[in-house]
Amino acid sequence: MDSDQAVQDSFAGAADPRLREIMQAVTRHLHALVREVRLTQAEWEQTIGFLTGVGQMCDATRQEFVLLSDVLGVSMLVETLNSHGHGTEATVLGPFHMTTSPPRELGASIDELGVGTPCVVVGTVTGPEGEELAGASVDVWQCSADGFYDVQQPDRQPPGNGRGLFDTDAQGAFWFRTVVPSHYPIPTDGPVGAMLAATGRYPYRPAHIHFIVSAPGHESLTTHMFVADSPYIDSDAVFAVKRSLIRPFVVCDDAESARRYGVDMPFRMARFDIRLG
Ligand code: BEZ
Ligand code: FE
Repeated sequence: MDSDQAVQDSFAGAADPRLREIMQAVTRHLHALVREVRLTQAEWEQTIGFLTGVGQMCDATRQEFVLLSDVLGVSMLVETLNSHGHGTEATVLGPFHMTTSPPRELGASIDELGVGTPCVVVGTVTGPEGEELAGASVDVWQCSADGFYDVQQPDRQPPGNGRGLFDTDAQGAFWFRTVVPSHYPIPTDGPVGAMLAATGRYPYRPAHIHFIVSAPGHESLTTHMFVADSPYIDSDAVFAVKRSLIRPFVVCDDAESARRYGVDMPFRMARFDIRLG
């Protein structure tokens, strides 16, 4: 009998058929993996130590398990398998949406540091038929121009910096001010970073702004807009770039637009129109 058969049978009585299916598949694939690489006792102990370290690194502002899922491409796979193929494409949530974004008025700045290239982001939220969705919720978060989220630098950034919760106007439009985000390394001071270093992988993500967009009666969308021409746009450490989500952040030196949005010239302008499924 295969090593895994008895274990698979032990789950046969699970009342929830989906739980039974998943646990039997976990057993089958885990045993196959151990056989394939002929895992040694020392390597299994190392694996347990690694996973223990991943768990110990998790707290209210750090999610090392999400990071592990991200760098193994599992977050992206789950996302892709569950996407419905219509509307704006989704991508990973990432580990930094762990605080509530401060509600802000349309046109407000999500940047409270004043360091970096000023930027205006504009867009609309529509439904599947292109209908404008007034009052849709647009939750955004991004890193600073130096490549850090507020929660990573509690001594240098006010809580809520780089974050904003907006409601679209009567035409389904939103707009806000910010600074162009930087590409950045995912956190490397934990077991996931050690694993990347040991395997010769780099930790960088291309510059992006995160979005969660929701409206009553529509599926909510978790996605990013990526900064075109950012370093690592073709080699994201978490495999989350989709071509359809890349946007130019265009240099704008139009005085009338600068006045309208309340930014100094020159600034960047980027558009992200979102269609919910
Ligand atoms: C992020 O974009 O915030 C992120 C995503 C995956 C891993 C680390 C960070
Ligand atoms: Fe991010």
